[in-house]
Amino acid sequence: MLNSATAAAFELAPFHPEEAKRVLDWIRDEAELRLVSPYTPPPLTPEKIMVWQDKALESFLFRDPAAGPVGYGELCAAGSSAEELWVAHVVVDPARRGQGVGRRFVQRLVERAFHAHRASRVILSVCEDNAAARSCYDRCGFRAFARRPLRAEWLPDGAYLVDMRIERLRWRAQRWREQVRRWWRGAPAGE
Ligand SMILES: CC(C)(COP(=O)(O)OP(=O)(O)OC[C@H]1O[C@@H](n2cnc3c(N)ncnc32)[C@H](O)[C@@H]1OP(=O)(O)O)[C@@H](O)C(=O)NCCC(=O)NCCS
Repeated sequence: MLNSATAAAFELAPFHPEEAKRVLDWIRDEAELRLVSPYTPPPLTPEKIMVWQDKALESFLFRDPAAGPVGYGELCAAGSSAEELWVAHVVVDPARRGQGVGRRFVQRLVERAFHAHRASRVILSVCEDNAAARSCYDRCGFRAFARRPLRAEWLPDGAYLVDMRIERLRWRAQRWREQVRRWWRGAPAGE
């Protein structure tokens, strides 16, 4: 499990096209493709990952200074303004899952949306049956606000997507609580 001192050194690095093959390798099969991008029909290819870039405002690799890239994700604008940003196509290297990487990565993306882009809210969609991702987003402060059928040509009907969001005010309150916890306990926030 990552400790906060180690995690603090991780950074958001801009994604470059030559890294598409690396991201592809992290999405191991159709089941994982469904979780990461249900509207991308298999087989996933580097070219399809490049198509994702068309809608992305920014795409990032999450970089462990000791081991290199360990995650991929995007910030996308919902409309013409950056008022509402989406987090999309989040995936962590399978060898690094369950260690706190995803939570730190999503927290950094959210921070960037609120700080650098001055977004008012950040939204994402997750497959209802994706327990790991829902738990990760929940820990980052996202809350579900809608549920809708997942209808993709290559997938059977019957599955649902859950839309989750975090508002700027909620995020700031959460940051403040973490700060207070750190002062009182001398403990790292969120550990
Ligand atoms: C979803 C994903 C990004 C989460 O990243 P991760 O590094 O594995 O998650 P973390 O280790 O940071 O865990 C974050 C929280 O989720 C919980 N969690 C992690 N794996 C879990 C699992 N399999 N089942 C239930 N909860 C889980 C953890 O307990 C943790 O909560 P905690 O901090 O209170 O302990 C990663 O598992 C992944 O890439 N999955 C495949 C692709 C995918 O599903 N992408 C999401 C698209 S919406």
